[in-house]
Amino acid sequence: MSARSPDFTSIAFRQALGRFPTGVTVVTACMPGEDPVGLTVSSFNSVSLDPPLVFWSLSLGSSSKSVFERCERYIIHVLSAEQFDIASRFASGTREQRFEGVPLVRTAGGQLRLDLECAAWFECYNRHRFVEGDHLMLLGEVEHCEHSPALPLIYHAGGYDLTPARQ
Ligand SMILES: Cc1cc2nc3c(=O)[nH]c(=O)nc-3n(C[C@H](O)[C@H](O)[C@H](O)COP(=O)(O)O)c2cc1C
Repeated sequence: MSARSPDFTSIAFRQALGRFPTGVTVVTACMPGEDPVGLTVSSFNSVSLDPPLVFWSLSLGSSSKSVFERCERYIIHVLSAEQFDIASRFASGTREQRFEGVPLVRTAGGQLRLDLECAAWFECYNRHRFVEGDHLMLLGEVEHCEHSPALPLIYHAGGYDLTPARQ
């Protein structure tokens, strides 16, 4: 048995998916001796409490795909409602432009983290990866996490209209 061909356009599919509000994260990684990479990601989700597992997916067209295929660890930063500019910055431009002027701090696990007041952050071991469709699925095992009282940035219908700070 296999699925029937879709009876909708890709625009209609995107619009329907957009009705599911999500938080917004920036995922960063750094290979030894290389510059850090990072991008804005809304596909982040929780998977398991014990062991602590999280999930996100990366477009196969991503310029940082080869890093996330190889790196041992990465950091997932959950953006606060005030960090709209960071979401925009890490969704466009070059690697250098994304990190320009953004303070970085090294974690106890040796990763470079954005030293910003995020709503939460997770340091993940890059436990499992597989390709489905046009994305690389990444399952991370959380080794360390922290959170703040900051309200999260909310992405919905291609914008931030549900984020109180953006209304
Ligand atoms: C709100 C938002 C959510 C996004 N979520 C994802 C995502 O889950 N996965 C992904 O691969 N790209 C996502 N993107 C797109 C990437 O951030 C964007 O294509 C970026 O330029 C990719 O950079 P790279 O090619 O250097 O990896 C998202 C963009 C925005 C604005």
